[in-house]
Amino acid sequence: MIEMGPYERHILPRLIDLVMRNKEATRLRASLVPKARGDVLEVGIGSGLNLPFYGAQVNRVFGVDPSHALRRMVPHAANNNASLEIFTQPAEQELPLPDASIDTAVMTWTLCSIPQPAQALRQIRRVLKQDGQFLFIEHGRSHDRNVEAWQDRLTPIWKRIAGGCHLNRKVDDLIATAGFRMTELNTFYIVGPRFVTYTYQGVAQPA
Ligand SMILES: C[S@@+](CC[C@H](N)C(=O)[O-])C[C@H]1O[C@@H](n2cnc3c(N)ncnc32)[C@H](O)[C@@H]1O
Repeated sequence: MIEMGPYERHILPRLIDLVMRNKEATRLRASLVPKARGDVLEVGIGSGLNLPFYGAQVNRVFGVDPSHALRRMVPHAANNNASLEIFTQPAEQELPLPDASIDTAVMTWTLCSIPQPAQALRQIRRVLKQDGQFLFIEHGRSHDRNVEAWQDRLTPIWKRIAGGCHLNRKVDDLIATAGFRMTELNTFYIVGPRFVTYTYQGVAQPA
């Protein structure tokens, strides 16, 4: 559990919003988020930076995020006038959505910060329809031994300054273990220090 001092309450949310607006992240959002359709659950909605990328085929957006400060930065509606409802709670807790009720789950740069990622992924699996899609862009454990070693070394200190963010999570394994199969997966570095830019972008479906 990360302690909530003035840094976490006031500075970190603004920093997250600013950093997550970077050009590279925006390019990746634009390449994946428009695939969403129907009723969408966005896990770790943050300040709502994916909302402009939902198209006309999205009916409703449900967001979940425990941060009240980020919640206050979210626009009132999604781009396409889809209704927007936000649950201010951790994704590991039972979501107020019925089983198999969601067409698309979206998660971008969030799995790294969730204290119990397996539990949150099980909630996503529970609410996603059998023919639903799970779209994700996450940074995580590199396939390069050298970078991996640095990620393991730096994570204990990094998570203290970066809102609980882990550098070394194996995103594809976590998703598969929660009951999904990958239908698309690309891994690559984006611009920036290698320990924090190894990216997993993909689509998964209930197995
Ligand atoms: C780096 S930000 C990314 C925000 C947003 N997804 C984006 O792409 O701009 C990580 C987000 O994960 C959220 N988060 C942290 N713990 C969480 C949890 N247990 N459940 C859901 N979201 C969580 C944070 O509040 C924050 O909004």
